[in-house]
Amino acid sequence: MRSNEEVVRLVNVSKRYYLSSSVYVDALINVNLTIRGREIAIIMGPSGSGKTTLMNIMGTLDKPSSGQVIIDGIDVTNIDEKYLSKFRLERLGFVFQQYNLVSQLTALENVMLPMLLTGRYTKDEAREKARLLLDLVGVGEFANNKPNQLSGGQQQRVAIARALANDPSFVIMDEPTGSIDLASSYMILDLIKLLNKAVGVTFVIATHNMEVAAIGHRIIYLRGGRIMSESDLARIKEEFSRLRVDQVAVIKSYLRILDLEERRLRRLGQDLSEIERKRNLVNSFIGPI
Ligand SMILES: Nc1ncnc2c1ncn2[C@@H]1O[C@H](COP(=O)(O)OP(=O)(O)O)[C@@H](O)[C@H]1O
Ligand SMILES: [Mg+2]
Repeated sequence: MRSNEEVVRLVNVSKRYYLSSSVYVDALINVNLTIRGREIAIIMGPSGSGKTTLMNIMGTLDKPSSGQVIIDGIDVTNIDEKYLSKFRLERLGFVFQQYNLVSQLTALENVMLPMLLTGRYTKDEAREKARLLLDLVGVGEFANNKPNQLSGGQQQRVAIARALANDPSFVIMDEPTGSIDLASSYMILDLIKLLNKAVGVTFVIATHNMEVAAIGHRIIYLRGGRIMSESDLARIKEEFSRLRVDQVAVIKSYLRILDLEERRLRRLGQDLSEIERKRNLVNSFIGPI
């Protein structure tokens, strides 16, 4: 993969799901997006914003209602499923939230599978490469485990090894850390960064998690099926900036509480040093504001 080369381009892609003949959901509206080789592109947005729909369309798992999908310079919009499944197998890697490993197969066999399906690898070659890929993602010692004998984080690493099996043009990840614990998530994120930098793997990652988004070179924000423009983003940041606590009001109220407590303690003839200490603390904070 040469860097900066266009790997996916979506042109005016819209997706409408019909729930009945008259009721529909516009999951994507006029999306224009280009992903380039060697980048980590993050698709960020709240639940229901269209991330999975976008990933499925980019991965040729679903077709747009209108618009074009171009992968590696090939317009795949109207290609029929028979050819598409081969195209997907040879050019795309997928990592889903729920790992989606084949439960009857070992980790090694799961990684061998996409290579064997292409007919381009002998069984020995596929086995050897699968072992190396499991080593690459750090789960080589679990090669003979079935998915239910692996933790979520380990299964996700096997899924990453499987996604890399046929040297895909890019890897699509839909909420890759959505089902795993925090420590494993950090490990997965670190692995993605390394695979991108050292191996040159291109990633498109859908997430609503800020920490996942932080590993991206670029963040594309989706809201209600639309990619947000720079001006929309600026407006939202401005709205968020107004959601700050009014520090002065909080401190004024607190000082009034301290006054009340002081009057109460005086009435009871009790020690006031604690009140004094609290007032000094607030005063030292008031300095900066
Ligand atoms: N197969 C489907 N049939 C009907 N509506 C769907 C289907 N898939 C997704 N949607 C709707 O499309 C919108 C976007 O969903 P999705 O792409 O799954 O968002 P996200 O992944 O960001 O949570 C939602 O309103 C969802 O209910
Ligand atoms: Mg989703």
